[in-house]
Amino acid sequence: MCHALDKVLQLAMATFPKSGNFAAKLERLLEQTNQIKGSDVGLDKSRSLTSERKSIRAEEYQDCLAPVSYIQVTENPVISVGVFIIHEGEKIPMHDHPNMHGIIKCLQGHLRISSLTRRETSLGDLPERFSAEVFKTKIQTGQLFLIIFDCAEAHLPVILNSDSPPCLLQPDSGNIHQIESVNGSAAFLDILSPPYNIDPSPDYHDQEERDCNYYRVIGEGKDGFRWLLQIPPPANFFCDTEPYKGPELTNPEDYQKP
Ligand SMILES: [Fe+2]
Repeated sequence: MCHALDKVLQLAMATFPKSGNFAAKLERLLEQTNQIKGSDVGLDKSRSLTSERKSIRAEEYQDCLAPVSYIQVTENPVISVGVFIIHEGEKIPMHDHPNMHGIIKCLQGHLRISSLTRRETSLGDLPERFSAEVFKTKIQTGQLFLIIFDCAEAHLPVILNSDSPPCLLQPDSGNIHQIESVNGSAAFLDILSPPYNIDPSPDYHDQEERDCNYYRVIGEGKDGFRWLLQIPPPANFFCDTEPYKGPELTNPEDYQKP
């Protein structure tokens, strides 16, 4: 029998990369993703959601515990699918997904997601306080730009729970986000296409580099826009991993496209 998660993976492989009837296929994928529960990915067996972790947190080692745990479901040249567990009081800092689509389905707890959209930004947008040469260089290299943060209704920070429909990020909309747990640990299913592609080897078929960049808001702009600056990966953010313990996926090799 085809499991609910299998259906999601098959639909994702049929939807990406973007081709004919993309909007209809994406809609179907979102509908199916909305059906996924924590038990469909084995979240009920997660060791980091058990009391074992809570007892460790009370001890002196708690600074060594990763703020986020990752469970890989599948990864191939078309999709990357996994489950992120954001532990109590923690977050995935503001980051992007260059030229990628993403779907987030909350499976447990509550998540606060702030989605940001990059705006076309030129040197003429720079206010006087950012007139130093370093800011001009950062605009020219795409490391400093304006974003819509809270003036576009669709990108207001939202609180998701397991009853909420999936959240969609697209290459040109809502592509940058920060995800926080609210009032306890929270978990979500994450579907990305294409996957991140960091420093591809010369013989790899996909030579587009897609690295994850991190950002920080550094000031207000005009008309509700804000300035976002690329920063080094935050030192206090790291993930540990757990094995996938959900139902067996049928013929995972079928997910590979020729
Ligand atoms: Fe993300």
